[in-house]
Amino acid sequence: MVLWTRLVGGLDPVAYPVRWEIASDEAMRTIVASGGAVAEPQWAHSVRVEPKGLEPDRWYWYRFMAGDAVTPVARTRTAPRQDTEVAKLRFAFASCQQYEQGYYGAHRHIAADAPDLVAFLGDYIYESSWGKDRVRSHEAPEPYTLEEYRQRYALYKSDPDLQASHAACPWIVTWDDHEVDNDYADDRPEDGMPKEQFLLRRAAAYQAYYEHMPLPERMKPKGPDMRIYTQLGWGRLARFFILDDRQYRSWQSCPRPKRTGGSNTVDIEQCERLFNPNRSMLGRAQEKWLENSLAESRSRWNLLAQQTTMAQFDQKPGPGRRTWTDGWDGHPAARERLLGTFKSKRVANPVVIGGDVHCFNVSQLKLDFDDPASPIIASEFVGTSLTSQAWPQERMNQYLPDNPHILLGESRYRGYVRVELTPGRWTSDLRIMETVQRRDAPCSTLATYVVEAGKPGPVRA
Ligand SMILES: [Fe+2]
Repeated sequence: MVLWTRLVGGLDPVAYPVRWEIASDEAMRTIVASGGAVAEPQWAHSVRVEPKGLEPDRWYWYRFMAGDAVTPVARTRTAPRQDTEVAKLRFAFASCQQYEQGYYGAHRHIAADAPDLVAFLGDYIYESSWGKDRVRSHEAPEPYTLEEYRQRYALYKSDPDLQASHAACPWIVTWDDHEVDNDYADDRPEDGMPKEQFLLRRAAAYQAYYEHMPLPERMKPKGPDMRIYTQLGWGRLARFFILDDRQYRSWQSCPRPKRTGGSNTVDIEQCERLFNPNRSMLGRAQEKWLENSLAESRSRWNLLAQQTTMAQFDQKPGPGRRTWTDGWDGHPAARERLLGTFKSKRVANPVVIGGDVHCFNVSQLKLDFDDPASPIIASEFVGTSLTSQAWPQERMNQYLPDNPHILLGESRYRGYVRVELTPGRWTSDLRIMETVQRRDAPCSTLATYVVEAGKPGPVRA
C-alpha cells in the first residue's frame, strides 16, 4: 500500500511536516495506524507513505494533515494474502486522458462502481495539445523541464472526477509515451533532439511521474532511469504483471522520411528491420524477469497490464500487410517470444490488457495471426481512451475483415473497461460515455465479453 498526496499553493522551497492517519472505518473513528512524513521541495512537496502491518484483504480509510489543512478522507485496501483462495476481484482499467479533449466523467463512473483497484495503462498526461472540440486548455506549451511537467500533472490532478477515482480505491499504474514525448523509444525521441538532451527531458518527465503517482519509494528515479515494472498478486486468484514497454524498447523501425524516431505505418515488405530477432519491446532484463515470473506464477489468472496493443493489426485491405510500428506490431519477434512463453511455461489463463490506440479491441492472441488454424494462446482486451480522440469507425471497418482474430474493433466511444474476475471466469464490460463534452454524462455498457478459465479467447456474452 502506498498513500499519496502533494502540497501545493504558495509554498516556500523548504520541507513541510505532514501527518497521516489510517482508520478501519469511514468516519475515521478507529485509527489503526498514523505517523509523520516530510514534504520535500526537491520532490515537489509530494508525500508517500508505505504503511506496514495492516490486515490483508480489507478496506481502509485515510487522510493527510499539514498545518491547518486536512485532505478529504480517501479509501484504499490491502490485497488478499498470496496463499488464500479468493472468490472475486473487481477492477477497472483505463488509459489516455487528454485533458483538453474531454471531461473525466468516466472516472466518476469508475468511482461509483467501487472496484477493488484501478489499473491505469498510460497517457495519464499528454505533453501536446491537439484535436478538435476541446472543452478546456493546457494553458501552456509542451513541457520539457521538471517544473513544466510538474505543472502539467498539477493541472490534470485538479480535476475533481479524477480525484474521486483515486480516492475510491488503490491504483496500479504504468506509463506510455505521452508522459514524456509522443512515440519515444528508450533514448530516442520522435523529433531530432540529441540523445543527451532527450535523456534530460526523460529524467524530468520520469521524476514528475514519480512525484505524482502512488508508487513505492523503491521506484524512485535515478536520473533518466526508473524501474516501474513489477508484479502484484491477488491471493491465488490473479497476478498482475505491470510492464514498461517504453523505457527499454528497441528504436522504432523505419521512421517516416526525414525523421530519426517516432512511429510509422509501413508495408511490411518495405521494412525488413521490423523482423530483426534482436528487436525487443521490454528490454532483455525485463523480458527475462517476465519469463521467469510467469513460469513461477501459481495464480489462476495471469494478467499482463501494459500500454500498447499486442494483436497483429493489418491496415491494408486485401493482399499484403501494412502495419503501425509503435505497438507490438513493431516488435513481432518479441511478441512471438512472449506468446511462446505463455505456451511453453503453461501459463494459466493469460489475459493481456492495454490501451494506447483509443479504441476497444477484443482479440484472440495467436502465435501466427496469418494462419486461421493457429491455436489461440491468450486473450487481449484493449480499452478505449478515457477522453483522447480516435480514428473514424469507417477506417476501422475497412481493416477488420483482414483481421479475423480481432473480434471487436470499436473507435466511436470514450470510456473504460470494468472487469469481474472469479476462479472460473473473466467478465469484462466495455463501458462507454454518452459524451465527454459534459461532466455529468451517463455511462452504459457497449458489450460484455467473457473468458472461461481453461479456454483461451474472449467470447461475447
Ligand atoms: Fe493515448
